[in-house]
Amino acid sequence: MTVEGNSSVPALAPETTTYLEMLSPGELRPSRADPGMLTVRRLPASEFATGRRLYQEVGNDYLWIDRLVWSDRQWLEYYQRPDIEFWVGESGGNLAGYFELDAGKDGSTELAYFGLLPSAIGRGLGGLLLTAAIRRAWANGAKRVWVHTSSRDHAGALPNYLARGFRIYKSETSLAPTTVG
Ligand SMILES: CC(C)(COP(=O)(O)OP(=O)(O)OC[C@H]1O[C@@H](n2cnc3c(N)ncnc32)[C@H](O)[C@@H]1OP(=O)(O)O)[C@@H](O)C(=O)NCCC(=O)NCCS
Repeated sequence: MTVEGNSSVPALAPETTTYLEMLSPGELRPSRADPGMLTVRRLPASEFATGRRLYQEVGNDYLWIDRLVWSDRQWLEYYQRPDIEFWVGESGGNLAGYFELDAGKDGSTELAYFGLLPSAIGRGLGGLLLTAAIRRAWANGAKRVWVHTSSRDHAGALPNYLARGFRIYKSETSLAPTTVG
């Protein structure tokens, strides 16, 4: 959608970004779904094409656009960074979703990207994948785990973070474009 009468100006709408954190491993409330439904594994940087595909397909409905312009080299260099981990979740032998961890220099690890493919949503996998991501961050030695989510993400995104024990420490609302370009 664009502003009527000016096709080059995208329409704006309020967007709220909510920041959440967890300060100790004991705050995690693990998903109660059957853990056998999901396996997770870390992928090497050389499999960046899977990361790109997941970014595009998971974020397609939620205006995840920043990385659409990334070249192969940018994807590779990003995943080669020692502070970045790229993990996928699989269910029944099929790719279900992914997460990325970004270990900050101050001991705070950001859950930088997290989500399921549309076909995997609503079956309990989101809680399991989030549990795995948080456990991995703590296992890596994080002192704090944090994440932010947009009001444009899936309606279950914020409830899932809260259900696993994250607490909100900040939220900001601003006007943002409702479409790409
Ligand atoms: C958000 C997302 C991970 C939820 O996955 P899911 O498989 O539907 O979640 P689950 O069925 O495992 O439910 C996990 C928890 O979230 C809650 N939840 C999930 N969908 C919900 C919804 N539509 N409304 C309210 N709560 C919801 C559940 O109540 C559940 O809590 P519980 O574990 O205490 O029972 C998934 O929808 C997704 O990846 N969406 C697209 C990408 C995205 O928005 N990622 C987040 C970016 S910050």
